[in-house]
Amino acid sequence: MSHALTPISVGPIQLRNRIAMPPMVRLSPHVAPELVQTDGLVTDGLIEHYAQRARAGTGLVIVEATCVDPAGRVWRQGLNAHDDRSVEGLRVLASAITAAGAVAGIQLVHGGPQADASLTGGLTVGPSEVAPAVGEPEPAELTSAQVLLIEGRFGEAAARVADVGFQFIELHAAHGYLLDSFVSPIRNHRADAFGGSMENRMRIITDVLLRMKASLGERAAVGARISVFNHIADGFGLAELQAMVRILQDSGSDFVDLSTDRVLKNAFGTERTMGQLARDATRLPVLVAGGVSTPADAETVVSDGHGDIVCVGRAMLADPLWTERAIEKLTGAK
Ligand code: FNR
Repeated sequence: MSHALTPISVGPIQLRNRIAMPPMVRLSPHVAPELVQTDGLVTDGLIEHYAQRARAGTGLVIVEATCVDPAGRVWRQGLNAHDDRSVEGLRVLASAITAAGAVAGIQLVHGGPQADASLTGGLTVGPSEVAPAVGEPEPAELTSAQVLLIEGRFGEAAARVADVGFQFIELHAAHGYLLDSFVSPIRNHRADAFGGSMENRMRIITDVLLRMKASLGERAAVGARISVFNHIADGFGLAELQAMVRILQDSGSDFVDLSTDRVLKNAFGTERTMGQLARDATRLPVLVAGGVSTPADAETVVSDGHGDIVCVGRAMLADPLWTERAIEKLTGAK
């Protein structure tokens, strides 16, 4: 019996198997113009893009990073959930995924220092005035009151997507966007309740999770996607990874999604992978992503405890039927 094909509960929801499509914005309108949204709205091409992967048997389809605040927009062709105009399209998208037997997930993002200033009215914001990369503009430092407003934006977007049928809601707290930049000791030099200790640097995330949990109850699984590799330069290591995972667990997360460069690579100078090390620190289901492209690797991820749910990104973009073929392989049907 395949481990990767075994059902699993994530908080209040059940997945038919442990194969997930991770969130992936499509970077170029030239590659797939039929998927490009106008003004952040869902298109028919986009619905088909996700529905195909759901019909192939994927357990969880997580719709790409979707913006919660006009001031945090990152991609001109990116989805948004920051106003009610987006609601009808998102409803059709969620039901197309659900009708195909997958759980409909979605990722919520605020770009923060990595927002596109040409889309946000010229300004980007962050925990401190630290440029996201050499040569890029410094974000304006958010006041504590502004941080609370952004928490509210996440809460409102979460309510919108839950209302239209998304049952798995993930905060994008990875890859240098706003929430991740708060966690980073390199980017966050604040002296208020949102800076300093790990608990404080994660406060914007935990506040939103607690709020989502309280308002959504059993309607959706909530959690966050984290990545640690962009902080490692500053002594950010195994202890910090495990602390983050514990803090997520303590603030009502139903899962932890770990973005790695390669799931099956040993981490932090140990004989274990990042997913195994994260799982040591929590009883929550852990999703892992990074470099899984074959059914055999997906099976190893679950059977050897690197993660409870295995995300297959680029391989599933390349082949909409990836999961169908994996199921055939893993059940010996072909
Ligand atoms: C991504 N990735 C990504 N991650 C995320 O958290 N939110 C997002 O919207 C995106 N967008 C995105 C677009 C494209 C085109 C790619 C290729 C990747 C990262 C993605 O979810 C995944 O973690 C990585 O691709 C690693 O997994 P694979 O592709 O090696 O299976």
